[in-house]
Amino acid sequence: MKTIGIFFGTETGTTRLISKKIQKKLGDAVAAKPLNVNRISVEDMLQYDALILGTPSYGVGAIPGRSAGCQEASWEEFLARAGTPDFSGKRIAFFGLGAQERYAERFANSLFRLYETFAGFGAEIVGSWSTEGYSFEHSAAVQDGRFVGLVIDERTQGMFTNDRLDAWLAQVAPLLLEKIAEAA
Ligand SMILES: Cc1cc2nc3c(=O)[nH]c(=O)nc-3n(C[C@H](O)[C@H](O)[C@H](O)COP(=O)(O)O)c2cc1C
Repeated sequence: MKTIGIFFGTETGTTRLISKKIQKKLGDAVAAKPLNVNRISVEDMLQYDALILGTPSYGVGAIPGRSAGCQEASWEEFLARAGTPDFSGKRIAFFGLGAQERYAERFANSLFRLYETFAGFGAEIVGSWSTEGYSFEHSAAVQDGRFVGLVIDERTQGMFTNDRLDAWLAQVAPLLLEKIAEAA
C-alpha cells in the first residue's frame, strides 16, 4: 500500500478520536482512514508497509480487551485471531492513551504490551517519545528513559495533545514514508 495504515482499539472512543486527528493531519494521500481492530483481520494490516497503531490502557499491564474488563472487543481479541503473523519488513509507530493522575503507578502500560507484541512479530519500531512534561510514578511504556511511542492523556493534559501530535508526526511521518518508498 502506498499509504500509512492506521489501526486502533478503543473502549470509550478516545483512541478513535486521536486516530482520526492523526489521519486528518497526515491527509488522505499519506494515510488511510483509521480502522478499529475489532473489525479487521491481521491480513488487512499486513497490506501496509508502514503503520501507526494506537491503544488505550486498561488493566494492570494488560492488552485491552475483555480480560481487562472492556465491554468492547479490542486488541486482545484481534491478537487472538491473528496468531503469530510475520511483521518483518514492516515499520510501525505506536501511540497510547492513558490517565497519569488516576493511574500514576501504571501509566500507559498497555502501550508497552502492544509494542512488545509487535516487536515479537518482527516489526521495526520507530517513534519513541520523551517523558518530559508528564507526571507519573511508573510506566511499563518507558524503556531506556523514553516512552516507546507517543503518549496522550486526554484526561489531564488534553491541552497538550495537538502540539504533541504535531511534534511526533513531524518525527515519524518521514520515517514511515521512507519505508513505503523503499517497499515500492
Ligand atoms: C476501568 C479503567 C481502567 C483504566 N486503566 C488505566 C491504566 O491502567 N493506565 C492508564 O494509563 N490509564 C488507564 N485508564 C485510562 C484510559 O486508558 C484513558 O481514559 C483512555 O483515554 C481511554 O481511551 P478509549 O476512550 O479509547 O477507551 C483506565 C480507564 C478506565 C475507565
